[in-house]
Amino acid sequence: MLILGIETSCDETSVALVEDGKKMLVNLIRSQLDIHRDFGGVVPELACRKHLELINPLLLEALEVAKKSWKDIDAVAVTSGPGLVGAVLIGVAAAKAISLALDIPLIGVNHLEGHIYANHLEEGFIPFPSIALLVSGGHTSLILIKDHGKYEILGETRDDAAGEAFDKVARMLHLGYPGGPLIDKLSKEGDPEKIHFPRAMMNRKDNFDFSFSGLKTSVVYYLKSDEGKNAKTADIAGGFQEAVVDVLVAKTIRAAKKYKTTDILLAGGVARNSKLREKMLQKARGQKINVHIPSLLLCTDNAAMIATAGYFLYKRGMISDLSLDAVPNLSLV
Ligand code: KG4
Ligand code: ZN
Repeated sequence: MLILGIETSCDETSVALVEDGKKMLVNLIRSQLDIHRDFGGVVPELACRKHLELINPLLLEALEVAKKSWKDIDAVAVTSGPGLVGAVLIGVAAAKAISLALDIPLIGVNHLEGHIYANHLEEGFIPFPSIALLVSGGHTSLILIKDHGKYEILGETRDDAAGEAFDKVARMLHLGYPGGPLIDKLSKEGDPEKIHFPRAMMNRKDNFDFSFSGLKTSVVYYLKSDEGKNAKTADIAGGFQEAVVDVLVAKTIRAAKKYKTTDILLAGGVARNSKLREKMLQKARGQKINVHIPSLLLCTDNAAMIATAGYFLYKRGMISDLSLDAVPNLSLV
């Protein structure tokens, strides 16, 4: 079964063709970073205009690269939320038009479920039960995955998302946007042990929520202190990253043990973080837990993960109709 995937929820326009939820024929991603960088964040109006400009040429390019024609497509899957409402709407409108014109099923996909299914694309399966750590620019959640489409949210951030904290601290350090990859890179030149920042809620045993706003404030105060004024930026970046990663890793492993699962999945843009990948693997090994991490490209927003999640929705008969709408705060459960 060939599914066309469409993703436009934030600042990446992406179109993919995936066979049977596994075989990625093409996964085109056009990042709009160059447009938003100067503003220090995504400007919704500019993102929408760019999606509109890119979507039709990208659809044609995907067919050409995969050497497929419109009539080969069996269904169209599209992100219907969460995300920037105007941006999501452009993908949804394109998918509806394709569904209507080709008379094929339309499948609305939750972007967060898409991130989880990047793991299926990578390895060809999702272990059940498993714990997913979903960390992106807008979300930080620990999720118990019981089966396809059966999720229990164990914990979420009470304030900033992990990616948001990376982006805000990078701005304070005048590193630029997006902050995550810049902090990741700079940290390699610093000493992560030199400056100790707080690990909020790390030792609350039965609570799987996160909080990163206190950590952000600590960095602000540190920068204003005499010690901070003379500190190396790479040490500050490294100390901050270490604090975020320690909390994410400790809570994820604790959740796996509490729910007696032997598999952890990482998902979302922050799963690209080299320290997070390294520490999660290292700590899990000692506990005999397997860690599944999508390749760098599949951690970022992309349409192949949407097509894959869409395939499993289709198999469960979860088809949308033409009333499908963009829902900016769509939740996973
Ligand atoms: O999943 P994603 O591509 O978009 C959303 O759905 O939000 O995640 C984007 C977030 C940004 O906050 C970005 O700074 C962060 O992922 N990110 C990273 C890294 N690469 C991207 N954070 C930490 N380390 C990285 N290497
Ligand atoms: Zn995302």
